[in-house]
Amino acid sequence: MNSIKHVAIIMDGNGRWGLKHKKSRNLGHKEGLKTVEKIIKTTIKNNIKYLTLYAFSTENWKRPKKEINFLFNLLENFLLNKISDLNKQNIKLKIIGKKQFSKKINILLDKSEKKTFKNKKLQINLALNYGSKSELVHSFNSIKNKKEKINEKNVSKYLFTTNIPDPDLLIRTGNTHRLSNFLLWQVAYSEIFFEKKLWPDFNENDYNRILNKFKKTKRNYGNI
Ligand code: FPP
Repeated sequence: MNSIKHVAIIMDGNGRWGLKHKKSRNLGHKEGLKTVEKIIKTTIKNNIKYLTLYAFSTENWKRPKKEINFLFNLLENFLLNKISDLNKQNIKLKIIGKKQFSKKINILLDKSEKKTFKNKKLQINLALNYGSKSELVHSFNSIKNKKEKINEKNVSKYLFTTNIPDPDLLIRTGNTHRLSNFLLWQVAYSEIFFEKKLWPDFNENDYNRILNKFKKTKRNYGNI
């Protein structure tokens, strides 16, 4: 049976969920946040050490301002209300992506990371303003500036995910089969699970079903 250290998730389908329920896309995001909380609990129950969540991509800035503002308000309220609780649960929060937001959000993110820095039970990597291609370019430039060798170890070292093991599995909800510029280097050997359900409908049973399927998967890494 495979052990699981790291799960990465593309939480897709919030907008469609809101519209399907004859409401707004934003209602879907609000509902999606409830799924985030359930999935954090289940990740801890499964004794998994790293959970990476794709919350906002570099491409998501193309969305209407109203939706972007809603998402960042949701994030702000989530951190203001829940960071102490996450801290009590021994959860570490790390932001991956370029921290170029409003001053208020930048400060809140820094504070939340600092507060939970020493925690050991679970590390949540929240991908915000994250794009894998720009992350790779940043890594290559760092190697060049430091006059180091271009090799796999150094490329990994200068990614946002430095010192974090690569995801064992990547889950994408919302019945769409693409990677959307997420962790392109890091998922080279991850098992990928595409889930039909929209993110707000995804639940503990669905998550456990995927984890159990992963545990039984034969991982060859190019071998036979
Ligand atoms: C993708 O669904 C989802 C997002 C771009 C945002 C994800 C945000 C959350 C789950 C809630 C906020 C989370 C935190 C941690 C504050 P989509 O909008 O692209 O859905 P669609 O494919 O149906 O349009």
